[in-house]
Formats: sequence, C-alpha cells, structure tokens
Amino acid sequence: MHPITLHLHEEAGTLALGASLAHALMPGLTIYLHGDLGAGKTALTRAMLHTLGHQGHVKSPTYTLAEPYTVQLAGRDVSVVHFDLYRMASPEEFLDAGFRDHFNQQAICIVEWPEKAETILPPPDISVTLSVAGEGRDVELLALSDQGAACLNRLKFAPNL
Ligand SMILES: Nc1ncnc2c1ncn2[C@@H]1O[C@H](COP(=O)(O)OP(=O)(O)OP(=O)(O)O)[C@@H](O)[C@H]1O
Ligand SMILES: [Mg+2]
Repeated sequence: MHPITLHLHEEAGTLALGASLAHALMPGLTIYLHGDLGAGKTALTRAMLHTLGHQGHVKSPTYTLAEPYTVQLAGRDVSVVHFDLYRMASPEEFLDAGFRDHFNQQAICIVEWPEKAETILPPPDISVTLSVAGEGRDVELLALSDQGAACLNRLKFAPNL
C-alpha cells in the first residue's frame, strides 16, 4: 500500500487532518504516531477526540502512559485510548497495567512513541509520521492492514486549508 504524504503549513492543517481522520475511524483500529518531540502527535490526537465529540481537555498522558475516552461513533459508545509511551520504563510496566486489553475490536488505540514499546505493542493498522518541515509539518500516513486501508480510503482531506 502506498503512503499518503501531505504538507501541513500551520497548526490549523494538523487540526483539519485530525478532524478528517476522526470521520474515517472505526472501532478496532490501532494507530501509531511517530515523530519527534513537538512534531504534532498530541495536536493531531486532540483534534480527533474533539471531532469525535469529546468536550474536555486532551492532554498527553505523560506519566500515566494511557488516557481512556468514551466517544460516540455511529451511535455507539466506543472507547478511544490515547497512549504516550515516551516515559515507559519497561515492557512490564505496560503489561502489568493491563494495557494490552485495550487493543481489541471494540476500541481505538492511538499511540505516541510506539518505538518505546516495540517488542510488546500490538501491530498498527495505520502508521502516521509527522516531521517538522520549515514552519509547518510533513505527514505520511501508511495503512498496514486491510482495516487501516479501509480507513485511509475513507479519508477526505483537502490539504493546506
Ligand atoms: N502543521 C503545523 N505547523 C506548525 N506548527 C504545528 C503544526 N502542527 C502542530 N504544530 C505545533 O507543534 C506543536 C506540537 O506539539 P504536540 O504536543 O502536539 O507534539 P507531540 O508530537 O505530541 O510532542 P511530544 O512527543 O512531546 O508528545 C504545538 O506547539 C503545535 O502548535
Ligand atoms: Mg505528545
């Protein structure tokens, strides 16, 4: 499958991409978010959650590693779990917390810093890579499963709004 590559001139572009992605999501997806500190992983996640109807704050779960949300998708409650594994000390921390249980066909998992848990993390359906490019960001979206491809095929995004 070919990656989708985009340039996002400013934060509004990242938020618009997050909103578009939110409309294409379905339960069961695991999305890895790659990119350096400040690349926009949390900004993208925040836009997805707000578009899905979450009205409160979305801050990165820096110390708790995972933050669960419940949103409505096609009239049903769906849990979206936002991970930030940057500070994960060991695979045991992930396993002992029961985090693997979140990766199921009813939930959507969005994972910042998946490389910190490579050996134990379930594989992604979609991999998103954000990188700083000038004043903006480059982004690459890659489907890694049929479910991920179905999601990206539904994505309607006009870049550089
Ligand atoms: N397309 C864009 N162009 C310019 N700035 C952007 C763009 N998208 C996001 N930003 C800015 O980049 C920063 C991204 O911060 P964010 O916390 O989302 O990064 P992160 O990838 O989650 O970092 P960390 O690894 O520390 O969690 C924010 O200040 C946001 O305003
Ligand atoms: Mg972040």
